[in-house]
Amino acid sequence: MRKKVTVVGAGNVGANCALRIAGKQLADVVLVDVVEGVPQGKGLDLLESGPVEGYDVNITGANDYEATANSDIVVITAGFPRKPGMSRDDLLLANYEVVKMATEQAVRYSPETILILVTNPLDAMCWTAYQVSKLPKHRVVGMAGVLDTARFRTFIAQELNVSMSNVTAMVLGGHGDTMVPLVRLSNVAGIPLTELLDQATIDRLVQRAREGGAEIVKYLKTGSAYYAPSAATVEMVESILLDKKKVLPCSAYLEGEYGIHGLFVGVPVKLGAAGIEKIYEVQLKPDEHAALEKSSASVKELIDIIKQKIGS
Ligand code: NAI
Ligand code: 2OP
Repeated sequence: MRKKVTVVGAGNVGANCALRIAGKQLADVVLVDVVEGVPQGKGLDLLESGPVEGYDVNITGANDYEATANSDIVVITAGFPRKPGMSRDDLLLANYEVVKMATEQAVRYSPETILILVTNPLDAMCWTAYQVSKLPKHRVVGMAGVLDTARFRTFIAQELNVSMSNVTAMVLGGHGDTMVPLVRLSNVAGIPLTELLDQATIDRLVQRAREGGAEIVKYLKTGSAYYAPSAATVEMVESILLDKKKVLPCSAYLEGEYGIHGLFVGVPVKLGAAGIEKIYEVQLKPDEHAALEKSSASVKELIDIIKQKIGS
């Protein structure tokens, strides 16, 4: 039997996730959205691409969750994207309600599922889904680090005029302006970045990666990035469904790792059939640790705002 993935939110990121999942023939896809007709229309349109693209998976759309029953993975992209001048954090309370509702419904129909969160502010939305779903922590994971490292890798490859596939990078921390690109552990075909680029250039590329989301928003004006985000999400979907056990930077619930307690923060994890199968604790230098602490403090600020709202 084919695997089944539900994508909640049939907007830019969601529809492109469905397209990529179908293109790779990873699973049947159910698109869910609140707007009547949109998930059904996009689902049918994607299905009709099958004969041309040569995929046989089923793609359907719905406005409720009945059709999502027994999904292996539920990807939550539902919510409001960032507009120019709006920070990811401005989205917090609006998207809290959306993610809460989507999680309740998704888990009601698929109690054994693995949740992949995409909605921003990402790390706070992971926390929301974890609290609401009551799933074990290894079955709730957030997409941000794969995207942030993809951006950093792109800028490094462009700068050095080398293949993107030769560039390895690591980014820790929350998905926001405080994310922590770990330059010390980034390399090109094993050659440390610090031997290839001077500090000023590295600093410039780090800053561009940090502001990668905002750079796209500035161009698009009416929304945020979706091609790279959907590619990053589907790399995670694929690693889980095919039990690839890829080590990827993802937002995971930490209970003491890196000295962080009770928060979702981006760290390297092994993603396989069980979800997060291992969290890797990298030995950090004092300045890297301080940057990660600062980043997790900004995630905590958002959680505190949510806790205030829900009175817990
Ligand atoms: P979009 O506006 O194109 O799509 C969002 C969709 O969610 C819309 O179709 C809307 O109708 C739907 N929606 C709203 N409330 C809903 C609900 N209660 N149930 C089901 N569907 C609902 O936005 P886009 O570009 O797809 O972005 C989606 C989210 O992903 C945003 O929060 C954005 O900030 C976030 N994002 C996160 C990234 C990351 O790295 N974690 C990267 C890119 C986007
Ligand atoms: C991004 O980084 C909006 O979080 C989204 O593109």
